[in-house]
Amino acid sequence: MDRRVTVTVLVAAVLTQVSCSSFGWKRVWSAQVSGFSWKNCGQLDDPAVLKTLSVSPDPISIPGDLTASASGSTSVELSAPLALNVTLEKEVAGFWVKVPCLEEVGSCHYQDACDILNQLIPPGQDCPEPLHTYGLPCRCPFKAGSNVTPELCDFYLPNVDLPYWLTNGNYRVQGVLGSQGKELGCLELTLSIHSD
Ligand SMILES: *[C@@H]1O[C@H](CO)[C@@H](O)[C@H](O)[C@H]1NC(C)=O
Repeated sequence: MDRRVTVTVLVAAVLTQVSCSSFGWKRVWSAQVSGFSWKNCGQLDDPAVLKTLSVSPDPISIPGDLTASASGSTSVELSAPLALNVTLEKEVAGFWVKVPCLEEVGSCHYQDACDILNQLIPPGQDCPEPLHTYGLPCRCPFKAGSNVTPELCDFYLPNVDLPYWLTNGNYRVQGVLGSQGKELGCLELTLSIHSD
């Protein structure tokens, strides 16, 4: 379940960013995300592991429909504060170059991923589907051992605002989740972005 949390948080971090339109952001009317892949990048004994993650179609169009499913598990309870270190890299001339943390997006350290979830989905509000239907949590704490049954679910991706520096190319994003100085899990995603 944890990796799933990580993914949720990564997506959450992105969504948080795309929802604020200020200087430094650009409205994207048409973009494609292709070549999506993922892997666990932590230690073998990390308590939290993503087991499955699938996203379709390839390429994903923005705006457009997205189908996704994920499952994972954690052997310890994930509770606040959950540190999240994100490293975002862009491929430039065959090398991965780290993108700095700008306006809370990029390679940033977040003190508490639980806090981000609480801001996105205020306590008291129902969890988004399909979590709500299956009685799955979307906020901390996430109980140990929870497994998420892979469930295909459809999303509609609207027009978004992206940071001006997010130009066409290949990206790699790594998220490391930790608590009390211990690594809980690590997830790496790679994808290509193309917008007209
Ligand atoms: C995040 O990075 C900081 C600084 O490098 C480090 O002290 C901390 O342990 C890291 N946390 C995680 C969860 O990796």
